[in-house]
Amino acid sequence: MAPRTSILVRPATRFGGRLRVPGDKSIAHRFALLAALASGQSIVRNYAPGADCQATRACLEALGVRAEGDTATLTIIGRGPCSFSSPGGALDARNSGTTTRLLAGLLAAHPFETTVVGDESLQRRPMRRVIAPLERMGATITSADGRLPMTIRGGGLQAIDHATEVPSAQVKSAVLLAGLHARGTTRVTESYPTRNHTEAALTRFGAVVRTDGLTVSIEGGQELRPIDAAVPGDLSSAAFWMCAAAAVPGGDVTIEQVGLNPSRTALLGILGRTGATVEATVASDDGGEPVGCIRVRHVGVLPLAIGPDEVPGVIDELPVLAALATHGGEITVTGASELRVKESDRIAALVAGLRALGADADELPDGFHVAGARQLKGGEADAVGDHRLAMAFAVAALGARSSSVVHGAEAVDVSYPGFFGILSSLAG
Ligand code: S3P
Repeated sequence: MAPRTSILVRPATRFGGRLRVPGDKSIAHRFALLAALASGQSIVRNYAPGADCQATRACLEALGVRAEGDTATLTIIGRGPCSFSSPGGALDARNSGTTTRLLAGLLAAHPFETTVVGDESLQRRPMRRVIAPLERMGATITSADGRLPMTIRGGGLQAIDHATEVPSAQVKSAVLLAGLHARGTTRVTESYPTRNHTEAALTRFGAVVRTDGLTVSIEGGQELRPIDAAVPGDLSSAAFWMCAAAAVPGGDVTIEQVGLNPSRTALLGILGRTGATVEATVASDDGGEPVGCIRVRHVGVLPLAIGPDEVPGVIDELPVLAALATHGGEITVTGASELRVKESDRIAALVAGLRALGADADELPDGFHVAGARQLKGGEADAVGDHRLAMAFAVAALGARSSSVVHGAEAVDVSYPGFFGILSSLAG
């Protein structure tokens, strides 16, 4: 584990620039996992550099998959369906919920026992949501009362129809990946649409996946063919710069080569609602994953309300939207209890950190409220090991009267290594 780092963030009188962000974490996980199952050599360009996607790579290598190269060009030599070999010991998913849950779907198809472990944060996260459907499909899974460590013995899967209890792309994906190895047609139905990167990636690897409204189905027994593809920039990482530009008077940022998959772009409309000028241009639609350019300019910061139907589309952007509200706006989020089971209890830790910076912020059972009329005085906020909170607190601190400190700043390495260096080049 990296040593705890504290970083000073100064108030900004200007914010802007033109940049690219690291490869999308969600897409990179999926490309690596599917490449491992394809028959032959895939090339994944611009693989996400954060610790989460490195955990996925390391788990695959422990399962006997050959991977060579670095994030610029990662080569994965897939050995076909159900071709993992039993790892010598437990698989360490570190801080990564996506690694754990998606891999669980694949391990459910393999006829040997694998234990998945993770760091302290991951050990607190609920796994019953994947355990229950995977057991119904035929896997045998033991866990620490629905949490890690989790031991999966797979094989002989049968298709199921599954309605997810909470909207979750990770759960949908785990069931679809198991469904790829099951007898029959597996269907997953959600109450609200979540990101569709698994569906797009499966299609790109040559599988047939059907989406009908809120139901996605996949026939078992399909073979995947290798790909040579680039991962677009991560919109959820770009979100910190987009919100900072929307927040700081005169702010103007352009992000190039960023993913613009419509299941991820709800933030653009929301930023428009808060008064920012937002332009997005799709340059290519690469296998169901549109890529393009986003420009965000500050105009003012208006009050926002985000309810249950909008939450799944911006689940990872809610902390930074709260940070934006501290720059003179206001935000009320409801229907977001899922935030309590992310890398941290993101409702409690977000409110605690924003208050420590001087914000008027309150927890709601299923969300939060931030009144941004009073300028932050600056202070010391603890990211409690959560990458998105470390970055959100930095964005809030740009609007404070005096400098602030973000404790636990090393957490950014999970999704955005180098974040604070880039922040100091964009803010002044
Ligand atoms: C992700 C899905 C979301 C999101 C996470 C990445 C994915 O989690 O918060 O950062 O890649 O599928 P849930 O499925 O738990 O909502």
